[in-house]
Amino acid sequence: GWRTRHLYQFQGFWCQAKEIHAIMSFQKHFKTLPKDVILATIPKSGTTWLKALTFTLLNRHRFDPVVSDHPLLTSNPHDLVPFLEYKLYANGEVPDLSGLASPRTFATHVPFGSLKGSIEEPGAKVVYLCRNPFDTFISSWHFSNSIKSESVSPVSLEEGFDLYCRGVIGFGPFWEHMLGYWRESLERPEKVLFLKYEDLKEDIETNLKKLASFLGVSFTEEEEVKGVVKAVADLCSFESLKKLEVNKSNKSIKNFENRYLFRKGEVSDWRNYLSPVQVERLSALVDDKLGGSGLTFRYC
Ligand code: PPS
Repeated sequence: GWRTRHLYQFQGFWCQAKEIHAIMSFQKHFKTLPKDVILATIPKSGTTWLKALTFTLLNRHRFDPVVSDHPLLTSNPHDLVPFLEYKLYANGEVPDLSGLASPRTFATHVPFGSLKGSIEEPGAKVVYLCRNPFDTFISSWHFSNSIKSESVSPVSLEEGFDLYCRGVIGFGPFWEHMLGYWRESLERPEKVLFLKYEDLKEDIETNLKKLASFLGVSFTEEEEVKGVVKAVADLCSFESLKKLEVNKSNKSIKNFENRYLFRKGEVSDWRNYLSPVQVERLSALVDDKLGGSGLTFRYC
């Protein structure tokens, strides 16, 4: 929770002490290879979904995603696409990545400015998934309260919301996180693909094709006819991931069970929580911070 966990300002964003060690370690030791893919998000904006989609896309030739009960996605997506800061370089460790098959896929929550030193290799690509700030806040608030220990009192919606609007959230302020990747995607569209959670919810197949093409693994006509695009989408759907056996009790990331990663998976759940005054405050903030950037959301 925000109150119990100490957040520090580091390289212009908020994070925990243990994350600082890991980030410094990957900044020092990690360099992408030409085909590497980095998935970037601010927490609770669809990271798990993006990991599942990317892993399935890149590995679909090893298995046939159209066959039911195939072994492609039997692990939690966080085990398939490791975070640089929570897994590989956690505690400042330096992992041996030499055994990883190409294309290697990694994930991170750090803002673009803190990642850019690691990704300069031509050919390495970044996919950013952005979710509207209203739902991202509600998802974060639920998550931090559900995973905290019983001895600690939950953070109220009011307090959490106020901190969020002041930018105090892991890897935030959220607007700077979004804008960093947004600007880079405009400047270098071959390097950074900017996707939106709400677009994926509305039309997953079109967005999957966009992702596949960006990663250089476009669907063939034969695959499209065979229904592979839909099969990949279905395999990675909220319902499908939630009901995986490994997502009922396993822990893929220390400190919480996988089931907390699958709450509701909808657009606009914030309507059930935020007061008119809160909606007005966050709307004004979004207008103020993102207005003129070209980055907009459909969140109603
Ligand atoms: S984390 O901890 O940062 O990795 O969490 P993250 O995966 O980014 O965000 C969790 C929210 O994403 C929802 N989710 C999904 N939505 C749509 N489709 C799929 N497949 C999917 N998987 C997870 C999850 O339910 C959380 O959102 P909320 O609104 O809390 O339900």
